[in-house]
Amino acid sequence: MSILSGISDFFGLDIGTTAIRIVQLQGNYPKTLVKYAYVPVDPKIALSDAKADQAQISQIILDLCSQAKMTTKNVVVGLPTKKIFSTIVDMDKVSARDLEKTIMFQADSLIPTPIGESKLDWALIGDSPKDSSKIEVLLTSVSDKYIESKLDSLESVGLNVIAFEPENLAVLRSLISPGTTTPMLVLDIGSLGTDLIITMNDSPRLVRSIAVGTQAIIRSAAQNLNIDNNQAQQFIFKFGLDPTKLDGQLSKAIESTIEILNTEIDKSIKFFETRYAGKKLEKIIITGGASLIPNFAISIANRFNLNVEIGNAWHNVSFPESRQSELLAVANQFSVAVGLAGRSE
Ligand SMILES: Nc1ncnc2c1ncn2[C@@H]1O[C@H](COP(=O)(O)OP(=O)(O)OP(=O)(O)O)[C@@H](O)[C@H]1O
Ligand SMILES: [Mg+2]
Repeated sequence: MSILSGISDFFGLDIGTTAIRIVQLQGNYPKTLVKYAYVPVDPKIALSDAKADQAQISQIILDLCSQAKMTTKNVVVGLPTKKIFSTIVDMDKVSARDLEKTIMFQADSLIPTPIGESKLDWALIGDSPKDSSKIEVLLTSVSDKYIESKLDSLESVGLNVIAFEPENLAVLRSLISPGTTTPMLVLDIGSLGTDLIITMNDSPRLVRSIAVGTQAIIRSAAQNLNIDNNQAQQFIFKFGLDPTKLDGQLSKAIESTIEILNTEIDKSIKFFETRYAGKKLEKIIITGGASLIPNFAISIANRFNLNVEIGNAWHNVSFPESRQSELLAVANQFSVAVGLAGRSE
């Protein structure tokens, strides 16, 4: 969903539910860190579609840019997975030139919203694993209305939006080394929802959005232990899924919510390994707020008998050694912004 190309000076913008994050990189791979900054936001405003709230968010972004002494107004903006429709479809093999025509012709049967009211984007992945006479294509659509209101509010404060990109594609760019051939599953567990992506050979093979995030985990602890949300949040980030803490009561209280995530992970792995016969998922990478919940990664590792790592947003970025600890402290919350900043225009 590029509007302009050839612009090398820009920053990545992640408008998250709990924080706004910006990152600027420069050069070629591995790009060098120029700047990063973030500011917490009130989720009520961040999630609101009301014009006044959107305007307030844009003002906060502008203030953040000026505090960070950002020298460019060009910005690549993340699209939340829950605002887009993404699917991988098998299509008859056609020349690259005819692909656009073929997709537009079939669009109404491929995406849930009318094509006249949607922006549609696609990327050719390769031959279909199911039928060698077909190709597989990643299709992404988003409503014109959503894009236009985002554009309006960001441009009204003087920002120049050069592209929108789905957040789930951005996290792959930041967390995974280019050229990785082995299949991996990435989980971005945010405040209200989780993005699940399986990637192989530098292409997404399955993308899903699950309506469970840290808020749901906090709520189940609060309800089951009869405590308030603040207390529940503190407990969760202190003791997590460690069964030896608090008599195992906390891990028990959040078990069923975590199980919703595990069920989706399980289904996704099965779908992938069935579609790509002979391929085996090798690793799960977790990012987002919930990746800091103690024992969370290990519990997923045990459940699926797979390697589980906490993703590092700066994995594909070069920066001075002296900044290592400062950057690692925020490595779980910058994967979207770094990925957006890592785009090559
Ligand atoms: N150290 C911590 N202590 C307490 N809570 C934490 C901690 N780290 C993260 N969180 C929780 O993680 C959540 C934020 O996660 P994250 O930064 O992934 O969300 P987001 O990107 O703002 O939201 P989304 O991606 O859903 O739009 C907060 O709601 C907070 O509850
Ligand atoms: Mg997020």
